[in-house]
Amino acid sequence: MNKHEAPISIASLHTATRHDSGPKHVTGTAEYVDDMIEPAGTMHAYLALSTRAHAEIVGIDYEAVRAAPGVIGVLTAEDIPGENDVSPSHKHDEPIFAIGKVHFWGQPLFAVIAETRDLARRAAHLVKVEYRDLPHATNVRAAQAAGHKLVTEPLKLERGEVEAGLAASPRRVKGSIEIGGQDHFYLEGQISLAVPGEDEDVTVFASTQHPSEVQLMVAAVLGIRQHAVTVNVRRMGGGFGGKETQGNLFAAVAALAAKKWNRACKIRPDRDDDMTATGKRHDFVVDYDVGYDETGKIHAVDAVYGARAGFSSDLSGPVTDRALFHADNAYWYPAVRVRSEPLYTNTVSNTAFRGFGGPQGMMACERWIEDIAYGLGKDPLDIRKANFYGTDTNNVTPYHQAVEDNIIHRIVDEVETSSDYQARRAAILKYNAGSPILKKGIALTPVKFGISFTATWYNQAGALVHVYKDGSIHLSHGGTEMGQGLHIKVAQVLADAFGVGLDSVKIMATTTGKVPNTSATAASSGSDLNGMAAWDAAEQIKARLLAHAAKLYDADEGDCHWVQGGMQVGRKFVPFAELVASAYLNRVQLSAAGFYETPKIHWDRATGRGHPFYYFAYGASVSEVTIDTLTGEYVVDRVDILHDVGKSLNPAIDIGQIEGGFIQGMGWLTTEELVWDDKGQLRTMAPSTYKIPLASDVPPIFNVKLAEWSVNAEPTIGRSKAVGEPPLMLAISVVEALSMAVASVADYKIAPRLDTPVTPERVLMGVQRMKGV
Ligand code: MTE
Ligand code: HPA
Ligand code: MOS
Repeated sequence: MNKHEAPISIASLHTATRHDSGPKHVTGTAEYVDDMIEPAGTMHAYLALSTRAHAEIVGIDYEAVRAAPGVIGVLTAEDIPGENDVSPSHKHDEPIFAIGKVHFWGQPLFAVIAETRDLARRAAHLVKVEYRDLPHATNVRAAQAAGHKLVTEPLKLERGEVEAGLAASPRRVKGSIEIGGQDHFYLEGQISLAVPGEDEDVTVFASTQHPSEVQLMVAAVLGIRQHAVTVNVRRMGGGFGGKETQGNLFAAVAALAAKKWNRACKIRPDRDDDMTATGKRHDFVVDYDVGYDETGKIHAVDAVYGARAGFSSDLSGPVTDRALFHADNAYWYPAVRVRSEPLYTNTVSNTAFRGFGGPQGMMACERWIEDIAYGLGKDPLDIRKANFYGTDTNNVTPYHQAVEDNIIHRIVDEVETSSDYQARRAAILKYNAGSPILKKGIALTPVKFGISFTATWYNQAGALVHVYKDGSIHLSHGGTEMGQGLHIKVAQVLADAFGVGLDSVKIMATTTGKVPNTSATAASSGSDLNGMAAWDAAEQIKARLLAHAAKLYDADEGDCHWVQGGMQVGRKFVPFAELVASAYLNRVQLSAAGFYETPKIHWDRATGRGHPFYYFAYGASVSEVTIDTLTGEYVVDRVDILHDVGKSLNPAIDIGQIEGGFIQGMGWLTTEELVWDDKGQLRTMAPSTYKIPLASDVPPIFNVKLAEWSVNAEPTIGRSKAVGEPPLMLAISVVEALSMAVASVADYKIAPRLDTPVTPERVLMGVQRMKGV
């Protein structure tokens, strides 16, 4: 990775510039909300959570809570002047504080406001609640059996003659796969600090991916207009989708208390309460019926995607939609019908998580590829290749968008060669034949991920750029920084546009007061959208400066050229700062608001047709594992990745995103297991029981490469491609490698069909199944 290191002052597009917060992270000077100096008299809020999965609330006795030391008051639904709702889908199905009924274990009942956080937390536990229990169902199968409603409208994507295709297929496989959820495990938990101002004003400092929505929610809850609410985000200590909507409630509670008592108020749940009371990745159960032939070519697919949505809609609609959008991964289906079932369950409302349903859709797809391979006794890679989208034909997706930028063949060929896949697979087959206890597996899986929000109106962004008299530049854009390197990328865009060093660009905290009506920083599109908006702002200022230079030096505009460090006017070089200073004296506006809307995209959900994605990002990975057939324990020995980020804006950041995304995906698919007990309580709500990957779980051989030849066919910023989410799905190769190792026990004759996460227990059970035990 040394070749990617570069000093921060060398700045332009496409260079490996280090993360602007990097030095601050390692020296502990990066400021998070909990590091901010608290205004005098700051109060602290803590949530009291329900201890029933589904029940009527018969009565709540707050007496002991109110009498506890340090308690200022109790905040209940009755204290809400506006709406008791933070539903991001605007279905009004997500109360801040439960009224009448609780729908999951951990649902907020009320908040205690106290002089310290510790006192608030202790007091919250003193409440006496009387419940009348109702029947509950916490998982997909139980919800299906109980006939639960859907939390939002399901989606169907259909193309071709599915029934006829299935009936005419020489071979057929039916099955189902259970795919587990995932806790975000951001290092910085949910937090908000609200500071009351004059009139109706309130300023919120939050850890959110979506400041504009927090603004909207706080206004609705307080019953005031949006202009009275300002939301600021310096950075998050990780979001991963868990702060796209889940910060709303915390910001609302802090703001409610701040306005009620006219004192600042901060709220930060403990890790176990954060894990219990905030949404996660959706678990899915996918039931499928696939027709194929002797060559492994798929003829028809029919599948239903049941998802644990939790008690309210939140983002379950778009998440389950995206699962269907990735039911094809990189494969062409001559006939296909896929349907979503976002099921009401008595669990916390599930939400966005890196990949946003796409990973679950792809995992299911790779499962039937595996079934076909074992059914035919072939290497799954051959089945994958036999079904890849073509470049000119066989390229229409289940949502009727043609894949126009297909590079999966080259990506897969290159990583197959660079990883020495064929020779290693042959060696592994030989090794397994002679090794009774330890078994190895290897797998190569592809990724094709659609870039754009499927909610078309989300694909817009704004920026506000000021150039000061000394030539220094102030950059605000609508995106938020959660560690992904968005700010440094947008700063690079601006430095490149003006031809100045990165040290001339100051990246401001995100605030609703400077760039309004922003979208969540999500769907991997932060740099695509905000990079373009910043560039647009820069172009406006540059055009004014150029016209000014031409006038000042009596030159043709055609003779004025932007060069590194300033402007060339004929044979005269004018340094940037000098140009700016003279422009000011000549009353030239040195500030501009930029805007961008993604072109080409459209989507009609009712008909399941459109062009929802601007382009696709591709990648492929090869994983090798060794399992112990006596214990089920395993190690990931080696991983080779080739990933497509178009023309990288910043190779150092992009490699980091690919490494981090892969490891996070590996955690999701292997060790991170969410367990709800029969009372509906989440039992894995701390690092003692919920196992994310450790540094020691990083494969000892981990070769990560960018497809350096790739250039986005669409005119995106610098011809780059989005990188945040797609690499997570590269981790599916770990599951497939584990499958091969398990299947070796029965001489690869039986499809192992491991559910995820493939924990050591599941590997052991798989081995036992193979042995017929
Ligand atoms: N990387 C870090 N370090 N921390 C994060 O929280 N979130 C991921 C990804 N990479 C995340 C991350 C998710 S879910 C998304 S959608 C993108 O970053 C969002 O940022 P971008 O659009 O700027 O890529
Ligand atoms: N991805 C991530 N977040 C979103 C999306 C999406 O497609 N749509 C709405 N929020
Ligand atoms: Mo990412 S799940 O789109 O925040």
